[in-house]
Amino acid sequence: MSQDYTQEINRRRTFAIISHPDAGKTTLTEKFLLYGGAINLAGSVKGKATARHAVSDWMEIEKERGISVTSSVLQFEYGGYCVNILDTPGHQDFSEDTYRTLMAADSAVMVIDASKGVEAQTRKLFKVCVMRRIPIFTFINKMDRDANDTFELLDEIEKELGIATCPVNWPIGSGKSFKGVFDREKGCILTYEDTQKGTREGETTEIALKDGETARSFVGEELYGRLLDEIELLDGASAEFDLGQVRKGELTPVFFGSALTNFGVEIFLQHFLEMATPPLPRRADIGEIVPAEREFSAFVFKIQANMNKAHRDRVAFMRICSGKFDASKEVRHVQGGRTLRLSQPQQIMANERKVVDEAYAGDIIGVFDPGIFSIGDTVCAPGESFAYEGIPTFAPEHFARVRQIDTMKRKQFVKGITQIAQEGAIQIFQELNYGMEEIIVGVVGVLQFDVLKYRLENEYNVEIKLENLPYEHIRWIENRDIDMDRLTGTSDMKKVRDMKGNPLLLFVNAWSVGMTLDRNEGLILSEFGRD
Ligand code: G4P
Repeated sequence: MSQDYTQEINRRRTFAIISHPDAGKTTLTEKFLLYGGAINLAGSVKGKATARHAVSDWMEIEKERGISVTSSVLQFEYGGYCVNILDTPGHQDFSEDTYRTLMAADSAVMVIDASKGVEAQTRKLFKVCVMRRIPIFTFINKMDRDANDTFELLDEIEKELGIATCPVNWPIGSGKSFKGVFDREKGCILTYEDTQKGTREGETTEIALKDGETARSFVGEELYGRLLDEIELLDGASAEFDLGQVRKGELTPVFFGSALTNFGVEIFLQHFLEMATPPLPRRADIGEIVPAEREFSAFVFKIQANMNKAHRDRVAFMRICSGKFDASKEVRHVQGGRTLRLSQPQQIMANERKVVDEAYAGDIIGVFDPGIFSIGDTVCAPGESFAYEGIPTFAPEHFARVRQIDTMKRKQFVKGITQIAQEGAIQIFQELNYGMEEIIVGVVGVLQFDVLKYRLENEYNVEIKLENLPYEHIRWIENRDIDMDRLTGTSDMKKVRDMKGNPLLLFVNAWSVGMTLDRNEGLILSEFGRD
């Protein structure tokens, strides 16, 4: 290592926000940026009008944005930290990319709507965080609206997600009677005042819990009494705060607040940045790569096609894992076996692209991809050669059989669908004992079906028909020596292979998965596909 980048790397915090649509992810991100001074006014992260779109609007949206919201990485400085927020698109944009983005983050912020509790999309994204064992910080949002019982909310997180919770603060009332939170560490009440505008200086006063008279006069007799009872119960029942457990993803610190009215956001940000880890070592085929002890290295976690329609260009998004990126230097693309200079390196902000000359471990860069990169590829310093552990394939949830309308265009069809699958937008499967004449497409979000149809027509001049299939569950078979023909499952089960030739099974319901496991002793099924 020629230079010491420890300081730059250690001040980096790279995280993704996971939530169900409408829990308040965008609003919270806006407030973070406000504190970071990255934008002057909250509300300019992304146009709501473009963020909420119907499936049929996809083309228009792409045109309008020029770049999909799915590509946003926001960077800002706060309190000496350099913070990278990776957007995990929801709504109709939800796709496998949403999962892959989590592979590039070092920690996750989970936003939960206090009146809804744990919802479907949060549950799915949470599973990936658990697989990676990254720290998860919980922000229970919308306390200015009527909320579920606090103990029940925590119970739900523990039971549904299987992670212990440790409230860092505790809400006093909710909705119209929301009075603020009790800071357990400081032993004081932080008062809430509805600013509505969410200005930077939310007028919060600290009242020591011991100062009963002042506290009572602010929160009222009833809520004060209830707070004392709840704190007592909490001190007896909840997990002790343990930073080690937090960093292993076994315990989630919980904060309460209201992103919209900007209450509890800065405290959350401060605690979160202190508790979260800087970029950690990552596993490669030669062992662990320590961020500050190696020259530049990165891996590709996402490929975005058609950033510029006129040129059919692609952008490969890379997470830097070690050292410093210097745009003037050459790098080695390990899987391609070539040394090259990364072209047009840029940071993709919400509404703009900014050229970057240098970046450090923890940062994300997007580079022009002439079609050489695949998801999971490693780039490193020219003198080195190692490969980071691959990115798993995530289970699609919607399946369709693809039929080509003009069978004369077989070649274009196979080329197009294979390329789109390589970019990671869709997964393709073949029925056992069939060739490419029977293709089943699997996607994580249904919008990807429209994307596939549109792209095949526009880029490859191939028209297709999609016929929806009823499968909802997919399992990769872990047993290497399996005889697929002898496997007995339920009548609705389908045996297929993925692009790499791995055998897997499609099921209509969870019951069939269980039944098949029962009928085949020793069968090991997995929800993630590996290289
Ligand atoms: P998302 O990115 O997770 O999908 O959620 P987003 O921030 O867009 O918030 C969804 C809706 O919830 C928005 O209302 C937003 O204003 C509201 N919201 C977010 N945080 C809070 C909060 O702390 N308290 C309350 N009361 N509301 C909150 P909308 O009406 O759908 O959009 P808009 O018209 O306000 O932009």
